[in-house]
Amino acid sequence: LDNGIALTPPMGWLHWERFMCNIDCDADPQNCVREELFMEMADVMVKEGWKDAGYEYVCIDDCWPSHKRDAQGRLQADPKRFPSGIKKLGDYVHARGLKLGIYADVGTYTCALYPGSLGYYDIDARTFAEWGVDLLKFDGCNMPDWHQLGEGYINMSRALNQTGRSIVYSCEWPLYEWQYQQPDYEEIRKTCNQWRNYGDIYDQWTSVKDILDWTADHQKLLVPVAGPGGWNDPDMLIIGNFGLSHDQQQTQMALWAIMAAPLLMSNDLRNICPKAKELLQNKQIIGISQDPLGKQGYRTFKDDNFEMWERPLSGDRLALAVMNRQEIGGPRRFTISVGTLPSWQLCSPKCNVTQILPVYKEMGVQELVSKLVVQVNPTGTTLLTVNPIKNNPEDIL
Ligand code: GLA
Repeated sequence: LDNGIALTPPMGWLHWERFMCNIDCDADPQNCVREELFMEMADVMVKEGWKDAGYEYVCIDDCWPSHKRDAQGRLQADPKRFPSGIKKLGDYVHARGLKLGIYADVGTYTCALYPGSLGYYDIDARTFAEWGVDLLKFDGCNMPDWHQLGEGYINMSRALNQTGRSIVYSCEWPLYEWQYQQPDYEEIRKTCNQWRNYGDIYDQWTSVKDILDWTADHQKLLVPVAGPGGWNDPDMLIIGNFGLSHDQQQTQMALWAIMAAPLLMSNDLRNICPKAKELLQNKQIIGISQDPLGKQGYRTFKDDNFEMWERPLSGDRLALAVMNRQEIGGPRRFTISVGTLPSWQLCSPKCNVTQILPVYKEMGVQELVSKLVVQVNPTGTTLLTVNPIKNNPEDIL
């Protein structure tokens, strides 16, 4: 969507995968969906370096509203769990230099059966703008007639635009449309700043694998439509939770950066292990994710339980990920023959290779005849950047 924002994939935090629809604040005040959760997350984001690393949006997902609209037909927050209201929460988040995200649904009800926006797009867009909302995640559950999905998403896009406020518009339009037909991605790119294509992520390696496989299988369709202002969304980062080993967490971080995915973490930043934090705040990986060229990466090779993915970067640079998909045994060696990779022509006459994961390491100057050997742990990823060494202009003269 050409609204001047999301020129690189949005970064932040979103409550869903980790906190879901926990509304039992009496029994579980620390983990229920209430205003304190978002205030605490905003505080930690500032204090613990998340904001400085680039994570900006603090996003509310489903289960925030009251089951009843107010007398004017406006959505209102659940009065027990959000007694100060969303506008105050927005002020709180903005006072810390962060941005606020909220959630609604194109149909009659949200997926967790809170009020949907069908018939209320203009009112809801205005309400969100008045509250100071900076991002809207617009879900696709409970649309009475799926033929109207597109119309609904387009009308909400217009309604948001008419408020005059810059609001990142995060859609799930293609995910719901795939059940019936292949979505029109040109239309989706014109309408949304990011869009979910595939099912919900959950806290297991199987889920991360599924998303990667689906994305690679559809990359001819997906990669060309991504770019500044519009991004394919493979769903939240689940790094720092329970289900992924450290190698698998490295794989998610590396591949989400290669895929130019929005980086919305769903974890408990108040209590996260140092290794997960270091990975999520890794400057080099975030640099790949936020590369200004805005080209999405793709899988280039798959054989012998290895996968290679690459992403073209600005300045004629390249990011390269080698994943070991073999789930038995130990680390395996993979040889990269530089001259055989078309995109590595940037290594003629010479290039500089840096390893970013599993640990930072300069791999030195390489040329087309070079062979690079990397060791990759089972379900882990080695992430490299390749940087051209430009001819000295005086040499050419
Ligand atoms: C859908 C979405 C999820 C989440 C839930 C909330 O399943 O895909 O990301 O927003 O609804 O109910």
